[in-house]
Amino acid sequence: MRGRGRLITIEGVDGAGKTTLATGLLRELTERGLDAELLREPGGVELSERLRELVKDPRLTVGGRAEALIYAAARAQLVEQALVPRLERGTWVVLDRFVDSSLAYQGAGRELGIRSVSELNAFATGSLTPDRTLLLVVPEVVAKGRASARGAPPDRLEREDEAFFARVREGYERIARAEPERVRRLDGERAPAEVLADALSNVADLL
Ligand code: TMP
Repeated sequence: MRGRGRLITIEGVDGAGKTTLATGLLRELTERGLDAELLREPGGVELSERLRELVKDPRLTVGGRAEALIYAAARAQLVEQALVPRLERGTWVVLDRFVDSSLAYQGAGRELGIRSVSELNAFATGSLTPDRTLLLVVPEVVAKGRASARGAPPDRLEREDEAFFARVREGYERIARAEPERVRRLDGERAPAEVLADALSNVADLL
């Protein structure tokens, strides 16, 4: 059962500005007197953090189906151990990636099909659905520039080719078109303060 807490998820490709927005949004919610927390996927709880390390490791061979199952397992644990208890006690959770990441990366990117991955995730999450999803959209060249500016070596997924990321982007667009009330597309190329202001106006009805 869902309590009074709200679940706001942030989505987009690497380098879209998710972490910056998530941090800013958390600060704004807290300043409004809300009990709010920031969590990330895959991770947030011990089992999920370990699965995150596994699935991102470029030394491992991981097939598309195994990949979808690992993300779903990490998510199942996060939902049970962290999300549900927080939402039930009224905490607002800002979550950096959730089910839509699997629909876009595994469903569209790996071509497993958005519907199959959606069914897998309905099982994993008990059909927990975000109250709002903020999808950051940036041109590919901007996303790549930001991701490489971090200086970290590319993880297993970041090594995929352009065709993969083109499918991921199109997957996100399909999700946004299918659920316009939940999923709000934000232009992530603007300055962080502008993106944050836009995000706040897109969650204002929940506040
Ligand atoms: P990040 O947390 O640094 O964004 O890295 C997570 C990576 O995992 C990123 O490349 C996107 C990918 N990913 C999926 O492919 N499916 C998922 O369900 C999630 C949560 C992440």
